[in-house]
Amino acid sequence: MQNKVGALLTILFILAMTGQAQQRPALITNIEGRHTIDLNGRWQTIIDQYETGYYDYRYQPSTDGYFKNAKPKSPGDLIEYDFDASEQLNVPGDWNSQDQRLLFYEGTVWYKKSFDYQKKDRTRLFAYFGAANYLADVYLNGQKLGRHEGGFTPFNFEITNLVREKDNFLVVKVDNKRRRDAVPTLNTDWWNYGGLTRDVNLVEVPDTFIEDYFLQLKKGSTDEISGWIKLSSVTAGKVVTVEIPEASVKQSATTDASGYAPVSFKARLNLWSPENPKLYAVKVSSDADSVGDRIGFRSIETRGTEILLNGKPIFLRGICIHEESPLRGGRAFSEDDARMLLTWAKELGCNFVRLAHYPHNEHMTRLADKMGIMVWSEIPVYWTVLWDNPETFLNARNQLDESITRDKNKASVILWSVANETPVSDARIKFLKGLIDHARKLDPTRLLTAANERHYADPNTQLIDDPLGEYLDVLGCNEYVGWYDGLPEKADRLQWKITYNKPLIISEFGGDALFGYHGDAGVRWTEEYQKNLYEHQLGMLKKIPSLRGMTPWILTDFRSPRRPLPHIQDFYNRKGLISSRGERKEAFYTLQNFYRDLVKERAGP
Ligand code: GCU
Repeated sequence: MQNKVGALLTILFILAMTGQAQQRPALITNIEGRHTIDLNGRWQTIIDQYETGYYDYRYQPSTDGYFKNAKPKSPGDLIEYDFDASEQLNVPGDWNSQDQRLLFYEGTVWYKKSFDYQKKDRTRLFAYFGAANYLADVYLNGQKLGRHEGGFTPFNFEITNLVREKDNFLVVKVDNKRRRDAVPTLNTDWWNYGGLTRDVNLVEVPDTFIEDYFLQLKKGSTDEISGWIKLSSVTAGKVVTVEIPEASVKQSATTDASGYAPVSFKARLNLWSPENPKLYAVKVSSDADSVGDRIGFRSIETRGTEILLNGKPIFLRGICIHEESPLRGGRAFSEDDARMLLTWAKELGCNFVRLAHYPHNEHMTRLADKMGIMVWSEIPVYWTVLWDNPETFLNARNQLDESITRDKNKASVILWSVANETPVSDARIKFLKGLIDHARKLDPTRLLTAANERHYADPNTQLIDDPLGEYLDVLGCNEYVGWYDGLPEKADRLQWKITYNKPLIISEFGGDALFGYHGDAGVRWTEEYQKNLYEHQLGMLKKIPSLRGMTPWILTDFRSPRRPLPHIQDFYNRKGLISSRGERKEAFYTLQNFYRDLVKERAGP
């Protein structure tokens, strides 16, 4: 019996690894370049902790749940819910920061939006969600469209045949309950914001439309664009065209039997970089459709311990960011939120940000493209997920897929990270190697990394030898010398030993400080302690020969259910360099000065 179960799990795992297990509706890319109708705004909501609107009293899925948006037809009719008389919440937005009763709420909230729609000939319609945390069941006019799992990536459903002229009702059951087999799993050090946390749009496209495209420089090249265009229909012989007027490019190609048209052509380009975030107007068209985009072209690769941007060695002056608007105390979702966070990072002297620990909203990566900030993008394989569970793997791979699909044409995104602080084991290697291979298949142009841990070879030597390093292009390492590991001065006597000849990014270091709490540098939680910690850390790190970047933890204080210390944390992680009211702590200037000096040093005399 045991062998049979073992064999079945292995078969399921191989199927998962080779992607045979399940088909998903194709994700439409570049919504900004399409014709959309936004459904943002006030949505009717029902808080449904017991999922009464989904299960019957036998805990069987009900055929007559809240997704029916039912109304009493006669005085005797028994309907025990009424969306239109219920409270409203803003979309996009998490429910936790909008209603004090929901601050700690984990469970189901039903959302309903009514809309009319003028149907058009030869036009298809999709409902597109920027994200919903965590599990979303989506219905239109009482019909189930599908389910999406994962709180930080986009998804869409086709509604062409279900939509009507009047009184459509789009209903979404959003459940942010944490689960052991989920991604992320039960414990995280960030707030489990629930809801329709990002934009919701209706997207109109022609019968056969440009579903997706990948246009980036070929690996190692600075003048050859290579990629593909995918039409929504699997028809061979369809002509598609790429135009980049400013670079005098007009290139046509023909689809194969799967609807893909590979493209590859030379172009004289002004390359994208932080100093010159050049974006080109690009038009992708077919006989029935055309999509406009703004794309930057840059090459990113490694050579030994160097990271090369457009062939030149770079140093990544970074900071970690959570997708939270400190001033509002909720999930960040808008272009203004993104601009505030990225402008603060620029003020710090950054040319790089680590968007932790999950794909942030598309406003962040689009703005990073425009502002010239390089991006580390990560999926929430965080701490200890269920490595042996094929469904958990599929879920993680699906989130990676959707993240890459959405951002693969963003010049700012240079690194895909598949994990954060995961424990070394064979099952974990197998799981993460599966993700790395998948990412390389989807995107052969970018670098793969993960935020791993280090350990001590001896009391004065920190060793980076995580076996996962073998499969990565860039090593990421989180270390908390001076906070969880000794006092700040300990950094002065530590050596580093790295078993790989690869570039290293210190993807986290830092310590908590409550803004305005001052005292001796040896007193924890004071600004002086945090400043002192940064001084000793930066002194240690700059001695590491293969160090090619750092992203200290973290730009701003952020909410965490793991941080209850009264009058200091109050459910905030206080490792920000900026407080939850936007105030700069002393260590903010320590890092700003360090980055300023680094720029001077690298600029040379
Ligand atoms: C970890 C983790 C972060 C966490 C941080 C901390 O390394 O990656 O998510 O917030 O440390 O403890 O503050």
